Amino acid sequence: MWNNFAEYILSQCEKNPTKICEIGVGKFTQVFDYLSKEENVEIFKTDISPNDSSVIKDDVTNPDLELYKDLDIIYSIRPPSELQPYIVDLALKTSTKLIIKPLFNEDINTKRVQLKLKNYKKASFYILGE
Ligand SMILES: C[S@@+](CC[C@H](N)C(=O)[O-])C[C@H]1O[C@@H](n2cnc3c(N)ncnc32)[C@H](O)[C@@H]1O
Repeated sequence: MWNNFAEYILSQCEKNPTKICEIGVGKFTQVFDYLSKEENVEIFKTDISPNDSSVIKDDVTNPDLELYKDLDIIYSIRPPSELQPYIVDLALKTSTKLIIKPLFNEDINTKRVQLKLKNYKKASFYILGE
């Protein structure tokens, strides 16, 4: 399933390079690791509590916009519900595609913005900006 999710993100990488950020990566780097091996992908990961020095410390509720300004895609895996509106705001502010994989297939907490549920092979997730 995670490879399917990563594969979908890769299918959205139309530019060379496509610039991607994973928000709230925690300790789960499987999707990040898959994408970072791709030649046409430039990727970084953020978290408010970085697990190691490869993670950029940033608080998505008060993001350093400079960090995200040239991005094409933002994605987040299992972000807590209270963070979801901030992630949506960041994607809108920076005009990036957004992909959110919730814990289960629960609705995303996005207030007025409607994300679309997408099924790709064995993965289900929400997208904005396709
Ligand atoms: C439920 S965990 C998910 C971690 C990982 N993506 C996964 O799927 O296993 C949520 C992550 O969001 C991070 N986080 C919480 N508040 C945050 C904030 N304000 N800005 C950025 N990251 C935050 C936490 O440190 C944690 O790593």
